[in-house]
Amino acid sequence: MTNKQRKTRIGIIGTGNMALALGKSFLKAGHFVAFGSRRPETKNDFHEAVGTESRIYGIQGAIDAGEIVIITLPYKQVASTTRKFRESLRKKIVIDITNPFDAQPNNGESGAQVTASIIGEGSRVVAAFKANFAETFENPIDSIGEPREVLYACDDDEVKEIVRELIRGIGFRPVDCGTLAQAVALDHMVPMMIRLDLTEFDGAHLSSFRLSSG
Ligand SMILES: NC(=O)c1ccc[n+]([C@@H]2O[C@H](COP(=O)([O-])OP(=O)(O)OC[C@H]3O[C@@H](n4cnc5c(N)ncnc54)[C@H](OP(=O)(O)O)[C@@H]3O)[C@@H](O)[C@H]2O)c1
Repeated sequence: MTNKQRKTRIGIIGTGNMALALGKSFLKAGHFVAFGSRRPETKNDFHEAVGTESRIYGIQGAIDAGEIVIITLPYKQVASTTRKFRESLRKKIVIDITNPFDAQPNNGESGAQVTASIIGEGSRVVAAFKANFAETFENPIDSIGEPREVLYACDDDEVKEIVRELIRGIGFRPVDCGTLAQAVALDHMVPMMIRLDLTEFDGAHLSSFRLSSG
């Protein structure tokens, strides 16, 4: 780990597919990871899947343990959970990876903008990892031998820099997609990505988008 890639304390809300994929990647890169679950006492299988170094707390515990908190809930649970923990989340960098699908806000906002407005003044929210299948984290290098890309968006340049380094540190190539308002494009990409993965690659979930310079 270089100086730039310092050990970061990461709280992950949720113990599903993406929590497992992200958690394992960040642990492997040398970061501290705490997971937050509605029922931490029932998560023995998850604990074994991540590895013995994992810590599984309640949601408040995982938020408190992280400088950066990643929300990996089903989108329909994001607003209520964010509202409940908004005071604690206001002190953190929050990475929202959730995909609204048919619950996309109908006023043109991105899902991550909704999360930011619930947290309120001073929120530091990043939209990221929305278009990365959980199955691709095991091997971030794609079939042409290049790191897969993580599209991210945020309104704060300093936060962008921190998240960019985290993404690089787990073997992906970060691609800056602009502001939280522009993240609505990421929300809309994902249903198409899932459809293309099914029609082009039999739904293996190993595909990813690539920006080509020509
Ligand atoms: N799967 C992917 O490849 C992928 C890729 C990019 C983005 N995403 C997005 O990331 C988010 C998580 O996806 P996932 O595939 O990791 O989902 P998942 O496997 O279903 O996990 C979601 C986790 O959220 C927690 N949760 C809290 N309230 C819940 C509720 N009412 N119902 C179900 N779970 C609840 C659960 O953890 P506890 O039981 O511990 O509370 C659960 O393990 C989604 O918004 C998805 O769109 C997924």
